[in-house]
Amino acid sequence: RSFLILNGPNLNLLGTRQPEVYGTTTLKDVEDLCTAKANALGVDMVFEQSNHEGVMIDLMHDARGKHAGIILNAGAYTHSSVALMDAISSIMLPVIELHLSNIHAREAFRQTSYISKVCIGQICGFGAAGYPLAMQALNEYLGDSA
Ligand code: DQA
Repeated sequence: RSFLILNGPNLNLLGTRQPEVYGTTTLKDVEDLCTAKANALGVDMVFEQSNHEGVMIDLMHDARGKHAGIILNAGAYTHSSVALMDAISSIMLPVIELHLSNIHAREAFRQTSYISKVCIGQICGFGAAGYPLAMQALNEYLGDSA
């Protein structure tokens, strides 16, 4: 089985972007962590990042038939995008909502997630370590299914 790990806007700047909030780990470091976890789980993985909502939606549509599930760090679109929510509702794939920071402990506007209701669960607050945790969770959720 294969997982899509999809990162949204500004996550390409990880490492230099507000390190007091997001740490100094780069997106490449995160990808390396995910590669190691994929090897440990015996799954395939495709790691993507886009700053564009429509590109993210296209990647989610294209995941159908290719991936067993998606780990999504939607960045700020989490708090604004009905279109991403609708995409998740439409693709019939399990999606885990992921955030590096604990969005519940930050500004009020970050405490509203449009995507939580249509995701199977959320992992947030553990920094880069959340990615392999989410992969573990998705793998266990899928169990023995395809
Ligand atoms: C984030 C949290 C969002 O509120 C923020 O807009 C991001 C990153 C996180 O990983 O903690 O871009 O998704």
